[in-house]
Amino acid sequence: MSEASDAKHRRLQELVDDIVARLAKETERGEVADYIPELAKVDPNRFGMAIVPVDTGRAVVAGDGDVPFSIQSISKVFSLTLALEKVGEALWKRVNREPSGDPFNSIVQLEYEKGVPRNPFINAGAIVVADVIMEGLSPKDATNDMLGLCRRLAHDGSVYVDRNVARSERLTGARNRALAQFMAAEGNLRGSVEDVVTTYFNHCSIAMTCRQLATAGMYLACAGIPIGATDASINADRARRLMALMMTCGQYDASGEFAFRIGIPSKSGVGGGILAVMPGVASIAVWSPGLDAKGNSLLGTRALEELVRATGWSVFGRIPDRD
Ligand code: DON
Repeated sequence: MSEASDAKHRRLQELVDDIVARLAKETERGEVADYIPELAKVDPNRFGMAIVPVDTGRAVVAGDGDVPFSIQSISKVFSLTLALEKVGEALWKRVNREPSGDPFNSIVQLEYEKGVPRNPFINAGAIVVADVIMEGLSPKDATNDMLGLCRRLAHDGSVYVDRNVARSERLTGARNRALAQFMAAEGNLRGSVEDVVTTYFNHCSIAMTCRQLATAGMYLACAGIPIGATDASINADRARRLMALMMTCGQYDASGEFAFRIGIPSKSGVGGGILAVMPGVASIAVWSPGLDAKGNSLLGTRALEELVRATGWSVFGRIPDRD
């Protein structure tokens, strides 16, 4: 590594350490998700952050950045990637690409729109995506395919499915079953409701650390060319489109506010994680389990806001030479 890149790495590490230290003192941390009982057990004081810059590929990690957490809806980015790999553009006959403006688990639009979900990042959309991944496979194999993708992208074979979280979701997943039943009634589900939701719950129950997640997000930050590897299945066009959906739909009915405040594509999960990407520059993961009223990490969002303010990162025009 050159001196210049060492200095850059140190500056970014100092910045992230400072953000983590300041947010650690916050007392208003949001509410941990409790509608999935296993998630309610997570310590709200956890806080982790990791950034992998495209130019160095060297991870900057702070706080609890090496502690695994439930990625929940962040998995929807990876499952969409896998489904597109499997069926390509045909997927868009079964799920749309518009922001919903409704909560992630809402059912109201499904009836008006005849069982075709607004986008792949709300629960209904991700359930259709899970159905596509599962076609011709058992839930176990469809789960292993997703786990394989996450391990490959994270360059880490230790990524795992948290069986306790998956069980907890199965035991309390009436609402997701209702979404799946409704789509089955409209002819937009091929597998059995129980198999499809089992696959979906397993996808959501994948556990990753901020370091693993930020590394995995490099296929987006590098617009399809992971450092040190070539992955023909994830091309630049697809990466750009995934990020467009993250920008418009990644934070549910808070996506507009997030674009306004932070201005880079991201995807949140009710485990308190957020994966965010500054295209061509860096992949970022942050984890703080307390959520705001829309189900997005309260302090995770604050951390990203402070990060982009300090670095000048934004897809709406980058302020040069701030890093
Ligand atoms: O299906 C659910 O409700 C959860 N497994 C995932 C929801 C989620 O992460 C929404 N994100 N903010």
